[in-house]
Amino acid sequence: MDHKQQQDTAHKPAKRKEMTRRQFLSYTLGGAGAFMAGGAILPMIRFAVDPILQKKEQGAFVKVIEESKVTNEPTEVKFKIHQVDGWYESDPQLAAWISKGDDGKIFALSPVCKHLGCTVHWGGEDPNKYNCPCHGAQYTKDGKNLKVAPKPLDEFEVKTDNGWVYLGPLEPNSRVK
Ligand code: FES
Repeated sequence: MDHKQQQDTAHKPAKRKEMTRRQFLSYTLGGAGAFMAGGAILPMIRFAVDPILQKKEQGAFVKVIEESKVTNEPTEVKFKIHQVDGWYESDPQLAAWISKGDDGKIFALSPVCKHLGCTVHWGGEDPNKYNCPCHGAQYTKDGKNLKVAPKPLDEFEVKTDNGWVYLGPLEPNSRVK
């Protein structure tokens, strides 16, 4: 290459890389397609994860018995709660044993035995205790485990309003140490 040719090459403008009509069309259609697909898919994803994003309803209380009917002797009450578990809604029936403590306060125990989950009953063979028919666990009126079961009976949160007793979520027994 002589000197003149080198100069020509050095001063030639850089060739612009132009987009072909085919490329332009494929970019435009591809972009529009992706936008439309996003519009269709995003609501589906939102719907799929919606229950996970929803705040859980906390502390729902259920009216179970008139306050005046609660005595020192445990009474069994049955009630339904509304449960929402992701996409599944149900109204299971629960039971509780309600009574007044020595301090006069109303409390409610879960009847689910802490050994293997059978249902305990107040009285029966041993009249002043909760007895479990499955393997013989016994609990005091406050729910303290006396034999077989490793823990006390759980307790429902209790509140009273306008002459009625309401039960809330289950929590570990607070009455026995
Ligand atoms: S389940 Fe109650 S004693 Fe075993």
